[in-house]
Parts: sequence; C-alpha cells; structure tokens
Amino acid sequence: MDVMEVKQAERTREITKRQVLFLFIFWSVFFCQVLSEQVQYSVPEEAEQGSFVGNLAKDLGLDVRELSKRKLGISSEKQFFDLNEQNGNLYVNERIDREEICGESSTCDLKLEVVAHNPLNIFHVNIFIQDINDNAPHFRNENIELKFSESTLPGTRFALGNAEDDDIGMNSLQNYQLSSTPYFKLEIQNSNDGGKYAELILLAELVLEKSLDREEQSAYDLLLIATDGGDPIRSGTLQIHIVVLDANDNAPVFSQPLYEVSVNENIPKWSTLLTVKATDMDEGINGDIKYSFQKITKRDSQMFLLNSTTGEIILIGNLDYEESSLYAFEIQAKDGGRLSDRSKVVISVTDLNDNAPELSVNFATNTILESSPSQTVIAILNVQDRDSGINGEITCSIPSNLPFQLKKSMDNFYSLVTDGALDREQVSVFNITVTVTDHGVPPLSAVTVITLHVLDTNDNPPLFEKTDYTFYFVENNQRGAMVSSLRANDIDWEENARITYSITDDQISDSRLSSYLSINSETGVIYAVTSFDYEEFRDIRFRVKAQDGGSPPLSSNVSVTLFILDQNDNAPQILYPSPPTDGSTGIELAPRSSEAGSYPTW
Ligand SMILES: *[C@@H]1O[C@H](CO)[C@@H](O)[C@H](O)[C@H]1NC(C)=O
Ligand SMILES: *[C@@H]1O[C@H](CO)[C@@H](O)[C@H](O)[C@H]1NC(C)=O
Repeated sequence: MDVMEVKQAERTREITKRQVLFLFIFWSVFFCQVLSEQVQYSVPEEAEQGSFVGNLAKDLGLDVRELSKRKLGISSEKQFFDLNEQNGNLYVNERIDREEICGESSTCDLKLEVVAHNPLNIFHVNIFIQDINDNAPHFRNENIELKFSESTLPGTRFALGNAEDDDIGMNSLQNYQLSSTPYFKLEIQNSNDGGKYAELILLAELVLEKSLDREEQSAYDLLLIATDGGDPIRSGTLQIHIVVLDANDNAPVFSQPLYEVSVNENIPKWSTLLTVKATDMDEGINGDIKYSFQKITKRDSQMFLLNSTTGEIILIGNLDYEESSLYAFEIQAKDGGRLSDRSKVVISVTDLNDNAPELSVNFATNTILESSPSQTVIAILNVQDRDSGINGEITCSIPSNLPFQLKKSMDNFYSLVTDGALDREQVSVFNITVTVTDHGVPPLSAVTVITLHVLDTNDNPPLFEKTDYTFYFVENNQRGAMVSSLRANDIDWEENARITYSITDDQISDSRLSSYLSINSETGVIYAVTSFDYEEFRDIRFRVKAQDGGSPPLSSNVSVTLFILDQNDNAPQILYPSPPTDGSTGIELAPRSSEAGSYPTW
C-alpha cells in the first residue's frame, strides 16, 4: 500500500463512522416516516472498483434471510454501483469522476433507486461523491510574454488572469506565489464570475514596484505558481517572460569631453584627422547617433568635414601653420529622440620647415669712402622666417675674409658695417654675399649680394721714380731746349692722382732759378730758359716738386743736380800774370784738397 492507498482506506473508514452516526439519526426518523426516507452514503470519487459503499439491506431494515425473496436491485446509476443480492452490500462498480459528473458544483450526489420485490418497495438512496484533490491548478497557457516600456510608472498593474482547478473547496485553487523580484509584486484579487454558484475566483495581477531600466536589464523571467489547498498540495506554473521596451531615457555621451590632435601642416587633403565617438545606451532610433558641428567658424567649416554617421573628421582644405596653428570647435551628437551631448575638438597644426627665410635690404649704400672709419654702416637688413620654432630660427652670415661685420641690432634686423680699414688701391669693389639660413631639417636659406664700391680719398702722395736725379747738359744750348724730364706716379684716382710739377728750391731764390729753367707742370719736362755757359757756372742744384690735385693736396720733392758740360768755346788766355782789375794779386790757386777733374764751385 502506498501513501495514497492508506489515505484512501482511512477516508473509507471515516465514511463508515459518519454513516453510523447518520444512520442513528436516520433510523429514528425512519421508524416514524416509514420507508419513504432516504438512505445516504458518501463515497470519495475515484474510489476503486469493488470499494464498499454500504450494506443496503441493513440500512433499509430488510431481513437478510428474506433477501433472496425480495430480489433487491438498483434501477439507476447502474454503471457506478453494484449491489450484491445475497447480502445487500453496495460496491463501487466503475470509476467515479466527480468533476465529470458534477463539474464545478459545490455538492455532488448520485441518486439511486433501490427496488425490492414481494412486496414491491422503492427506496431512494443518496450517494454523496466526495471531492479528492485529483486535479492540479493549471493555467490556460504555460508561457506568456509581457511587454513593459521602461518608462512605465510604478504602480501600473497587469492582469495575469487566473489558474483553473476543477476540484472544489480546499482542493481548488487557493493561492498564487510569484518568484521574488524587487521590480514586480503579485496582487491577488478575490472575485466571482457572477455565475449561479458564486464561486470565488482568484485573479493574479502583476504590479510594477520599481522603475524599469532597459539599459540595466532588458528582460525578466518570472514564475507564477498557483497552488490548491489539497493534501497533498498540487500546483501549476506560469512562465512569465517580461520584455522591457526602450524609451529614449539616455542621451548620447561622447567618449571624451575634449578631443585633441596634432597634425603636420603638410598632411594631405582628405586625410582623416580623428574620429569622435559617442554612445547611447538606448536602442533603435533612440540610440541612433548623428554627429554635427555645433559651434564652428565659417573658415573652419571650409577646412573640416564631419561624417555624421562615423564621427570622422576629415581635412578638406590645406593646412598652413603660418596661417593658423590651432583650430577649435564644438561638435554635437544627437540621437533620434533629440537628446544630445557636446564635446570640443582642438586640432593643433605642427610646423614644418616649409618656408625659406626672407632677406630684405632696408637700406644699403653702394659706395663708401676708403677713409671711412671702422663700424661705418653699409646696409641694414631685415630677415624673416614664417616658420616657428627651430624652423624659424635663423643664422645670418657673410664670408669671414672680408673687412665687414654683420651686427644684430634688433629682432630680425642686422646692420652690415665696416670692420677695419679699406684701401681702394687694393680692393675697389666688394661683392658681399649675405646668407641667411634657418635651423630646420633640411635647412632652407636665402642669399643676397651687396656690391660696394670703395671711393678714393687722397691718401697717396705722388712718388718720384728715383730719390734723386742727376742730369748732364752741354753749355751753349739753345734757349728753350729740353734739358730732361721727371716722372712721378700717384696711385690715387682722378684728381687725387693728377700731378702738377714745379721747380722749387730753398737755397736759391725761385726768381733766379726761373731765369734758368722751367718745367712743364703737366709732363714734368724741364727746359732751359737761357743758354748755359760752363765758364759761368758748372752745375745747378734744385728740387722738383710733384703735387696731386686732391684736397688737401699731397706732394713730394726730389733733388735734381744739373751738370753743365764744357765746350771749347774760348781761346786760351794767360791768367797769370794778368793785370788785376780789382787791385788784387790776380792769382787763383786750386786748393790742395781738390780732386782731379773737379770743378771749383761758386
Ligand atoms: C661683383 O659682381 C658683379 C656682378 O655680379 C660682377 O660683374 C663683378 O665682377 C663682381 N666683382 C667682384 C670683385 O667679384
Ligand atoms: C721737400 O721735401 C721735404 C721732405 O720730404 C720737405 O721737408 C721740404 O719742405 C720740401 N721742400 C719743398 C721746397 O717743398
């Protein structure tokens, strides 16, 4: 015997006990009311075939010994019950399903007519069919799917319907239980269907307890258990799948509040400089992001393109560090539900050495006096490099072997000055190459040439070819005859080199000298003004001066000795003794120290 069978047996015993109590009451009525009263039995549904229901003979007061004569039989519900004619015992003949016979009715009894013959009597026997918990509560569908918008307000209810249990009383549906979740709770409504039995129906309602967030959890699986009050308790389940529908409750969010990028100024057009990214936790159109420029100047919008779907920022212009080294603008990400976020983009342009230095001559002289002092300014130069950093740092230089110097005067300004003495007579023209080079890699440079002519100053006196001159000239010459010529040179220029010759002497007066000699001031040719007489004087000493045309003039002089040579132009004369004309002795003696061939001087 298993547990069910034990319980069944117990129940049968209980029926019997109740029957005895009942029959005691019944009998007291029976003797007064005579045979028209009913016998009542109670049998659980689903009792096994052959289960004892009651002894009719005894309960109807029939004599057991007369039973065969009375031919006891049942005229109704024959399929359920079987009457033993010998002993009057009533047995269950067939499975009795209370739910099939009586449905939802709270009471269920089968009316039996028992017929006895000789004499003919009809007895009415009422058999109560007791409910047993042979049906579990069940839902019409085992699975349901519910859709809740995440914006649904807490307190919102959703009817889940009810479970059904064909049993009655405690064996029918008694309670519901919902799997535990903080988001939903179960409420049970007592109601009746308004039908004639006014039976209580338990309706289950799902109540939203807490706001849903699809982004946190997009689905819930709940289990609703319906239980009856039978022994043992039976139950049925309903699987509830809850889908949380998206509402646009999340704005797009940029991955960074600021996007910074640094690019070389030579980056080609159509390059992607950076990609911005925003995310939206919503789904569908609520999470569909479009990017756009928010705050941008016209200039910048002609330089960059923002791909509204990918977030790529593409260069569509040409970057030039020297024009703009920084671009800053705002971008926006907007979802299909019009929620948005903003971010900043800063694009810094890196300088490349793409500009050569520029060299301009602000002032320059192309001539300079050779006498100019050191540090005389020749030119002022301005240098520029549009690049920045080392690309814009520059060095300015001239060849080191020139008597010039470059001096930095101010930012970007250089002065070219003389550095040392100039000498036109050595170098009269300078081509000064000024080179400016930046420090970029590779370096770029610019060159300019300043041509400088050195102007003459009268810094050189005329110079004679010799330090002194000696000429010989034969007496008795013709007047105006050329005696000799001298030449002096002056390395200066033009006037400063134009030489004028003159005869001068500091021993004899110029007037006496000029009666003997003259000099062509331009050519330096010396002429005899008189005819010389050796016997009168034998030499003439004087100086010739050469003077240039400079201002002031420079000059130099040389000493010239002109010897007069003798000709035989006199007959011999007796000098001694000769009558002295002046009263003297008339004797002239050569000094003892005279060298042979020497002439006495005057
Ligand atoms: C200076 O440059 C000019 C022009 O290029 C050239 O004619 C001249 O010969 C150069 N002079 C010197 C001294 O280099
Ligand atoms: C000749 O030159 C000397 C020195 O060179 C100078 O002292 C003298 O005065 C000059 N004489 C004349 C007449 O110029």
